[in-house]
Amino acid sequence: MTSFSVATASEAGRHRRREARARHYVMTPPAHFAVEYSINPWMDIETPVDTALALIQWETLRRTYQALGHIVDLVEPVSGLPDMVYAANGGLVVGATAVVANFAYPQRAGEAVAYGDWMVRHGYEPVWTRHTNEGQGDLLVAGSILLAGYGFRTDRRAHGEIAQWLGRPTYSFELVDPRFYHLDTALAVLDDTTVAYYPPAFSNASRVSLRTLFPDAIEVASSDAYAFGLNVVSDGRNVVLPAAATGFAAQLRDAGFNPVGVDLSELLKGGGSIKCCTLEVHS
Ligand code: ARG
Repeated sequence: MTSFSVATASEAGRHRRREARARHYVMTPPAHFAVEYSINPWMDIETPVDTALALIQWETLRRTYQALGHIVDLVEPVSGLPDMVYAANGGLVVGATAVVANFAYPQRAGEAVAYGDWMVRHGYEPVWTRHTNEGQGDLLVAGSILLAGYGFRTDRRAHGEIAQWLGRPTYSFELVDPRFYHLDTALAVLDDTTVAYYPPAFSNASRVSLRTLFPDAIEVASSDAYAFGLNVVSDGRNVVLPAAATGFAAQLRDAGFNPVGVDLSELLKGGGSIKCCTLEVHS
């Protein structure tokens, strides 16, 4: 006897086997974290920051990665650089090459020196862009390609410089809403070929390119996007995401991923969450 069954997209996702791959992350403890200036709409210098709580929340994130079997290297925090906890912005490391950040705002310029030093000491070949680039805030690796954001921080001209150094096909996407000022606030890479994003954060032309490049992408709701829900770190199966992004967590489960919620509410006061606090070293 032959039986036919028609699976819904969600059933197909749930039964799809997602494979985790061990990763290498770099993080900086928020020992000097504060909101002393405002360079994005989330930063309000009047709101008090609890640095001790930020450290506790950050430590939970570090332990979560270690429990999932990933390597976590630490960078020494530098006093006077309150945003240094957002390690993703330190650069983009792929293979032996480390593209060192070139920050848009002078308040963060010192971080490029600190992260550049770390990269050199760990044996990576540093390269510098002429134009502004804010590292993995705007430059996300998806398998063999690079997804690059522009509009608020990273200069579109830096995309070309980086594409040449890394020799990878690079696709540029324009961000249009200041709340989603880095690509990693509006788009999440879940595995080598799967992404999730928040369409209103992108220009019309970029939405068309995203739909063409990733027809099976997960589109998230405003409530999740505004909870920084897309600012996630995935190993291909386990997706570490802000605990408040419950709608996106359900979508991830439906698609066969394992969402792991972590609360980084204190770090949100600086306009960052899980991914911002994590620089992935790509092999
Ligand atoms: N306060 C920092 C800034 O505005 C937050 C950076 C967040 N990092 C990220 N990868 N989105 O630059």
